[in-house]
Amino acid sequence: MRFFGVLSVCLLLIGCCVCQYQPTWESIDSRPVPEWFDQAKFGIFIHWGVFSVPSFGSEWFWWFWQGQKWPSYVKFMEQNYPPGFTYTDFAPQFTAEFFDPNERVDIFASSGARYIVLTTKHHEGFTMWGSKYSWTWNAVSVGPKRDLVNDIATALRTRTDLRLGLYHSLFEWFNPMFKSDSDNKFKTNVFPTAKTLPELYELINTYKPDLLWSDGDGDAPDQYWNSTGFLAWLYNQSPVRETVVTNDRWGYGSICNHGGYYTCTDRYNPGHLVKHKWENCLSIDQRSWGYRREAKLSDYLSTEQLIASLVETVSCGGNLLLNVGPTHDGRIVPIFEERLRQMGQWLKVNGEAIYNSSAWRVQNDTATPGVWYTMNKQSGAIYAIFLSWPSDGIVVLTDPVVSAAKTQVALLGSGSVTWQSTTPTGLKVKLPPLTPSQMPWSSAWTLRLTGAQ
Ligand SMILES: *[C@@H]1O[C@H](CO)[C@@H](O)[C@H](O)[C@H]1NC(C)=O
Ligand SMILES: *[C@@H]1O[C@H](CO)[C@@H](O)[C@H](O)[C@H]1NC(C)=O
Ligand SMILES: *[C@@H]1O[C@H](CO)[C@@H](O)[C@H](O)[C@H]1NC(C)=O
Repeated sequence: MRFFGVLSVCLLLIGCCVCQYQPTWESIDSRPVPEWFDQAKFGIFIHWGVFSVPSFGSEWFWWFWQGQKWPSYVKFMEQNYPPGFTYTDFAPQFTAEFFDPNERVDIFASSGARYIVLTTKHHEGFTMWGSKYSWTWNAVSVGPKRDLVNDIATALRTRTDLRLGLYHSLFEWFNPMFKSDSDNKFKTNVFPTAKTLPELYELINTYKPDLLWSDGDGDAPDQYWNSTGFLAWLYNQSPVRETVVTNDRWGYGSICNHGGYYTCTDRYNPGHLVKHKWENCLSIDQRSWGYRREAKLSDYLSTEQLIASLVETVSCGGNLLLNVGPTHDGRIVPIFEERLRQMGQWLKVNGEAIYNSSAWRVQNDTATPGVWYTMNKQSGAIYAIFLSWPSDGIVVLTDPVVSAAKTQVALLGSGSVTWQSTTPTGLKVKLPPLTPSQMPWSSAWTLRLTGAQ
């Protein structure tokens, strides 16, 4: 009793008794990435904002139109909007009238993803929640007139067990405070002090996300953003200090180097084991993260390609964060929905090789192309996922060490299969002659090896 009494007084007075993390990269980088993130393997990225209104080119629309003055963007505006139309004039058209948070999160859950990451503020500066620091440039004051972050967070937590992740851009293309700090070569920090940091504290305290996906350093160093100061608060004192996961985009030079897990570049998929936890963020539309009306079918990755990316990523120790861009009126178009639901169907059969798995000794087979390995440390099972069904029905796995007495092999969704050992190591697996309707899935199949090394 006495001990707990003292402890709670101490917590009340000091806020944190054990301030474990110091505001230095050395200390921040020493924090292990919470386990849930490595086990989750698959998340959904959602790029949604005022850029979903023009839905042309990419979510960088404003910058390409008025920052870079790219001819295709300038022409698009001249041909389709009256003279003098500004980017802020798009905001009232961000109507979201078909946005049903329940339906939205049910689609996410059906994909087999274990977390989502929603853009709460992209580089355009528009906040998807009613931030106190946004004047009227937010979704509560204009456009949908609702707190979209709260809508999604609430539906997600009520209906699913997916974890909530929030994307947030440090810089804003056209914010005059950022511009003036930038003109001062970041010797002044009016913008982070008045805008970015208050916004970050507000987001964390209000929505208590399990993941904070930072982006957009605007070529400013982390000292300018006070990133280590903020992260020390996040890890020591914030309401999510036990569970929260962050990425590596915290200032010029921090990417692939400092922070939480690594994202390195967009669509990072190195094809070899990376020991530090990492994430491959990938968009179904290969040319944009935000919804783009002019996209062609060939711009969209197929479900087979997406599954292959998931498999390669997980084999190499990463998570896949797969992006969809909703429309200005709040829909996830059926083709994106279909991709997500098909990922979920594949994961229903093959999820045993993905969730909670670890990288194995070998990532892809040394001799047979298109075979990727994972393992489950608890059960000791090794999984070999092959991306195409061999025409002779024989899969050669070169790397596992097998024993006639102990090793058993099964095709997930089907059952045990026969095999023969090869020399010096490895085995030849004879796949069952399945008819199309007996196929557990139409691309990427998993062999589970037990009693092998
Ligand atoms: C930077 O972070 C530290 C630690 O949280 C805090 O004490 C300090 O006030 C912050 N500075 C600014 C300018 O926000
Ligand atoms: C993964 O492991 C966690 C705890 O370590 C457990 O709660 C969860 O059920 C496991 N998930 C699967 C799919 O095995
Ligand atoms: C294994 O994957 C790497 C990286 O994608 C590739 O370069 C290599 O050719 C693959 N090995 C085989 C046998 O396909």
